[in-house]
Formats: sequence, structure tokens, C-alpha cells
Amino acid sequence: MNILLIIIWILIVAGWFLYLKVKKVYEELESHGIPYEGAIKTYLNLAKIFTMRKHFSYIIDEQYTKFEGQQIIPTFSLTTRGFMIRDPKLVKQITIKDFDHFVNRDSNLNPDMDKLIGRVIFSLADDEWRNMRHTLSPMFTSSKMKMMFGIISECTDDFIQHYEEKVKNSDKLIIDCKDSYTRFTVDGICSAVLGIKSDCVKNEDSEIFKFSKLVLDFGFWFIFKFFLHMLARRIYVFFGFQFIRKEVSDFFYNAIVKVMKEREQNGIFRPDVIQLLMQAKKGQLKVQDKENEVNDAELSNFSANIEYDVNAKNKKMTHWTDEHYMAQGFIFFLAGLETTNVLLQVTTFYLAKNKDVQQKLIKEVDEVVASLEGDQVTYEALHKMKYFDMVICEALRISAPAEHATRECGKDYNLKLDNGKTIKMKKGDMLAIPIRAIHHDEKYFEDSEKFDPERFSDERKGSIVDGSYIPFGFGPRVCIGSRFALVEAKLLLFNILRKFTFDVCDKTPEKFEFKPIMRHFELKHLIYVELKLRN
Ligand code: HEM
Repeated sequence: MNILLIIIWILIVAGWFLYLKVKKVYEELESHGIPYEGAIKTYLNLAKIFTMRKHFSYIIDEQYTKFEGQQIIPTFSLTTRGFMIRDPKLVKQITIKDFDHFVNRDSNLNPDMDKLIGRVIFSLADDEWRNMRHTLSPMFTSSKMKMMFGIISECTDDFIQHYEEKVKNSDKLIIDCKDSYTRFTVDGICSAVLGIKSDCVKNEDSEIFKFSKLVLDFGFWFIFKFFLHMLARRIYVFFGFQFIRKEVSDFFYNAIVKVMKEREQNGIFRPDVIQLLMQAKKGQLKVQDKENEVNDAELSNFSANIEYDVNAKNKKMTHWTDEHYMAQGFIFFLAGLETTNVLLQVTTFYLAKNKDVQQKLIKEVDEVVASLEGDQVTYEALHKMKYFDMVICEALRISAPAEHATRECGKDYNLKLDNGKTIKMKKGDMLAIPIRAIHHDEKYFEDSEKFDPERFSDERKGSIVDGSYIPFGFGPRVCIGSRFALVEAKLLLFNILRKFTFDVCDKTPEKFEFKPIMRHFELKHLIYVELKLRN
């Protein structure tokens, strides 16, 4: 018989079993008074994701809007029960108060399954995660950020010089923000994380820039492996599939493990993440002495994370291997690249569209420049700029680069709802926290489509409902790199605005929208703006 026919039959039968499973799960939930869209609809949604016609965050947004008034609703998860939290109070409960029940994101993703992705802090589970977070969190304190400030400053200088020359040599300089900012973030991350000068801004044909596209290649093959790892773990492991291409993991092995060894042998010091990983490896990475630590409360960084005590047990139990350290360098590279790039694009877009906001920000920039008396801006000066922080906070709200977060239920849990009902959560249930949808809920952010930094003024930010503003996630598992991202984005924008203005041009799109496909950070329309030298 034709082999194609056999495959089609296998797919139909597998599909049928999956359908029955989805149906059973949701019918059970419906009996607890939780409404759902029906198994067929769930199934169609899955098909849309798999065929890359819709990004699943858009489906989450649609479900969020449809079930107004509910605190929690079912959402699709392939082999387990999936829920979406629609209430900031529950977000807080799950991510902070009852964190012990929801420590992990996906405990199936471990090193047996995938050598690289299974070892990154994002995937680690339970005590392994607690120990790794405890080991790495001193890496992103404000004193460490100050240490890396000079490295990021060098990348900003390259950016400004490059565009100063360009603008002088052209009548009208239109920039494609995605290209410009991706080049900058690759330079920043390569320099601060890997200690490599990648020169992507200045060199249009940079090899590292081409390579970074391979790292971010989340095409069909990636999605296929993603679904396979959820549906048929054994097959995934049997065939030795890996999420990340071999040439990419080889590159990171050479860039991190080999460089660590070279530095060790030759006594080289550079204030970057590799150095901090080397200290972590020797157990010497600690939160800095108090006088060097900048008091975050004095700085305007409303969106940045608070580090929690993660209650790391058996601290000596885990002996991290070179592969573990390499994996952390890799995830910092990956997690920092597109997120920060999107933040820069969003902010630029809204500044170009909202001239009054841009003027107010430029006024604040000019005041700081005047106070510096010719010196470079410092970490403290940058982070004391109140209006700047309001603008960044609003950019992170209106188009949150990470559109949702997830948690896995690790221990059975009774979730009590306001209507008096209790949902019995089982080990393995998945929870989605729809960051972008909550940020656009009129209940929490009135006129939510409007770009309005005043929401974050001293007078108004106190009334933001806890758990409703979560661009970097929430609780002990919050983004570890938020301070790094904020330094990078603020420093670049500060230096741009001291020299240039952003203007809309014919090619600037009407709206800032993500493409509804599987790939997270793809925009529907590229953001073009005109860069003009200030007088
Ligand atoms: C604007 C930029 C960024 C945004 C919006 C962002 C957002 C997020 C979000 C929403 C999470 C999930 C949090 C949760 O589950 O509660 C996360 C986790 C994480 N982020 Fe970021 N991120 C950004 C930049 C960065 C940077 C620059 C780095 C690294 C240098 C980074 C490293 C990580 C890591 C390692 C995790 C996993 C933490 C853990 O599991 O312990 N992120 N991020």
C-alpha cells in the first residue's frame, strides 16, 4: 500500500484519539461550571497554530476576551489539562503565595530530552531550578549592571556614530527599526554576555548578525519538534531530536566553555557575563557588599523585577557541569535578543507618533545632559529619570514583548474561586498567564489602546492593581534579566534622543501589531521612522 496513505491513516487515528482526550478533559471541567469553547474549536485552534496561521497568544487573547467575568478558563494543552488565569488576584496567588505548587514551567523539558534547552534556567525544575536561580541571581543586581554599563555604552556609541554619519550623508534618513535595533541588541548581548565584539551595527555583512538569525530560527521544523516533544516524548528522545541546531550549540560551547578555560589559564578579566559565570562556577558569585549595591528603591525602575529568596535547598548537592554554564549563556543570549529589540521598536514607534510625549522626554534628557557637564551619563542618572521610566513602562504595557507566561502544577492544589466553587488542580496541569491580554483589559487599564505614560506617574501608579502589570512576569520565577534589558534600552534611547528626533514617515505603519503566526516577535508591518538630527 502507498506509504503516504498509511501516514494519512495514522494521522487520522492519532487525531481522533487526541480529539476524544481533549473532549473528555473539557467536559469534566464544564461539569465544575467552567465554560469552554468546545473540543472542535480547541482542535481547530491547534490546527491554526500548527499550520502557522495563528500565533497562540492571539488565540489566548481571543479566549480571554470571550470569557469576560470568569476568573479561570480552560485553554488548550495537548496532553494535559490547560487553564488560563483571567484574574490578577489569582496571578499573584499562583506565582507568589502558592508558588511551591507552581515552581516549574514544563518539567518534561529536561536534559534527557534536550541537551541544551533542557539545561537552561528557563526549563529547569524544582530544586535544580532553585539552586540555579540562587546561583545566578547575583549576576543581575544593580552593582553588576553598573559593572557592565561601560560595555553597553561602547555599543551605544557605535550606534550613534554610525547614524550620525548616515544622517549627514543623506537628505532624509529612514530607518527600519527592526534591522537597526536587532543589530544593536546582538552587539550588546555579544559583548556583555559572550565578550565578543560583533560589530553588527557598523558592518552590514557581519557574520555574527547572519548567525544570530540561525539562533532565532523558529520555523516549521522547530514547531514540529515542539509539538512532538509534547505529544510523543519517547519518539522525540528515540530519534535524538534537539530544539537547537548543532552548529548553534557548537558555537555557544566554543564561545563560553572554551573562553572560560582560556581566561582561567591566562588570568584574563573582563567585566561581562562569562566572568560572572566563572565566579558562579567557583561558588564566588555573591550579592555585592552593601556599599557597592545601588539602592533600587531610589531608582525609577517600576517594571524591574524584585528578586525573591527562592529557598534553595541542598545548595551543595548540585554540581553544575560546563554544559550547564554554557546553557545559561545561551539562554541569556536568546532571551535578551528579541525582547529588548521589541521594546526598543515599540518605544520608538510611540514616540514618533506622540510628539508631545517625545518633547517632554527630550526635555528631561536635556536636563540630565546639562547636569552631567560634558561627562557620559551614569547608571544612577539614567535610572533616576522619572518620565523616561514612565515612557518605558507604558511601552512594556501596550506591546509586552513576552505575551504570556506559563506555570505547571507540581503538587495537587485546590483553587478556590470567588463564586464559591473549587477547582481541583492536578499535578501536570498547565497554566497560562496572558500578560498581553491582561495589559489590555479595560478593567485594569482604561482606554487601554492609548499610549499614555501618565498611567505610571507617581500620582497614578499606586492604583495599578497588583498582578495586572506584569511585563517581566511575576513572583520568584520572574524574568532574571529585566535590569539588563532596561539598562540596554534606556541607554540607547537616551543617547539617541540627545542627538536625534524620531518622526513618522510615509512608511510608518498605522498600528504596532504582532504577526499572528507561531514565531513570537514577528511584526505585521515593519516599523520605519525618520531619524532627524536635532538642531
Ligand atoms: C524587554 C525585555 C524582556 C522581557 C519583556 C522579558 C520577559 C520575560 C518574561 C515574561 C519571563 C517569564 C517570567 C515568568 O514566568 O513569570 C522571562 C523569563 C526569563 N527571562 Fe526575560 N525578558 C526580557 C529580557 C531578558 C533579558 C535581557 C534576559 C537575559 C539577560 C532575560 C532572561 C530571562 C530568563 C533567564 C528567564 C527565565 C527565568 C527563570 O526561569 O528563572 N530576559 N522574561
